[in-house]
Amino acid sequence: MRVLIVGSGGREHALAWAISASPLLTELFVAPGNPGTAALATNVPLRTNDIAGLVNFAVAQKVDLVVPGPEAPLVAGLADALAAQNIACCGPSAAAAQLEGSKRFTKEIADAAGIPTAAWKAFTEADEAHDYVEEIGAPIVIKADGLAAGKGVVVAATLDEAHEAVTAIMEDKVHGAAGAEIVIEQCLVGEEISVFALCDGEDALYLGCAADHKRVGDGDTGPNTGGMGAISPPPWAGQAIIDATMATIIRPALGEMARRGMPFRGFLFAGLMVEEDGPKLIEFNVRFGDPECETLLPLLRSDLLPALVAATEGELKHVDLRWRDAASATVVMCSKGYPGAYATGGEIFGLEEVGALPEVTVFHAGTMADQGGILANGGRVLAVNATGADLQEAVTRAYEAVDKIEWADGFCRRDIGRRAIFAAQARK
Ligand code: AMP
Ligand code: GLY
Repeated sequence: MRVLIVGSGGREHALAWAISASPLLTELFVAPGNPGTAALATNVPLRTNDIAGLVNFAVAQKVDLVVPGPEAPLVAGLADALAAQNIACCGPSAAAAQLEGSKRFTKEIADAAGIPTAAWKAFTEADEAHDYVEEIGAPIVIKADGLAAGKGVVVAATLDEAHEAVTAIMEDKVHGAAGAEIVIEQCLVGEEISVFALCDGEDALYLGCAADHKRVGDGDTGPNTGGMGAISPPPWAGQAIIDATMATIIRPALGEMARRGMPFRGFLFAGLMVEEDGPKLIEFNVRFGDPECETLLPLLRSDLLPALVAATEGELKHVDLRWRDAASATVVMCSKGYPGAYATGGEIFGLEEVGALPEVTVFHAGTMADQGGILANGGRVLAVNATGADLQEAVTRAYEAVDKIEWADGFCRRDIGRRAIFAAQARK
């Protein structure tokens, strides 16, 4: 099989790493890829938003399967454009990608399908939004409806913060058109988890559960980021929570999407709050998570590629994936200053030595190659993953690896998995 992965981050490196191990693979391309994927595949200098370029490439290279990493090309119609050329794509149509592209759409699907989620209302008028804030009270959550680069959500602890958020999004238009409509919802309280499923329009195959670490600082402090690290399995999500998630959230969503004539294919990412009475949907994403992908794929024992193909053919019911009974931890190394302004171009040393450590895999997220060396070239630069018999072992290994990487301009959180390890011990 000839496969094209779209994207350039740690998630795409992890996908390339898993797919390149498949005996079914004959040729692997990554557009645009990074120095990590270059070691496993042919990098193609096409941007992820160049839909026509990607489709033309896939046609010219007789690609059998396209695996998009990020959501933007899916929202822009990559899967539809590939379908028009009879090329399989493990990702949803633009219509189905609204599950990530529009918060309001997701809430409507959730209500129609009876999915447990926070009570909500959508607004296009700032006055009405301010009134609703007063009616519900704080804490309360304010969301720009459209894609706002992960920055469109304000969890407001006070009424003042909530009103400020409404003003910033609707009146000052800090997120542009993405904030023309807002969703205001009840604040959920509990532990957050990310649950992943591979979907074929009708059936869903569980792909694992992870806990992300979104804030930049130790102890969950500071601004939100794309994700500073992840662990799996989260001790606060046992089998009963996973079963409830598949039965009350993932499968009902698939059913509702199919009923609306927009069957969902590809990776479905449910961001959930585990409350006392079970999991509640926070949001869907139409892709694998990053760094959750780098955390879960090292636990997979089965060949991923046939499952991806089955997802595009409506054949997932015949697929059964096997997983290691182990734990996994990923520490993301970032450029100092991230998620604010940061410098790039600093050289990173020690990657080869670290990559050879047992149960350790270093995924490139924002790097570039330069005369045989590897330079930092982004905010999130490396995703250092390790597996182990339990979370403690995985986390210890991941930090041992991190500490062998020499990079003057880099930093990472030092507490990835710490709360999870405490919680796991408390449960023993
Ligand atoms: P989202 O962009 O929808 O992932 O939201 C970003 C973050 O805001 C989530 O990861 C949660 O931590 C938080 N969040 C969103 N909605 C809620 C909610 N209803 N209750 C509590 N926290 C929320
Ligand atoms: N790590 C969260 C995300 O991929 O959106």
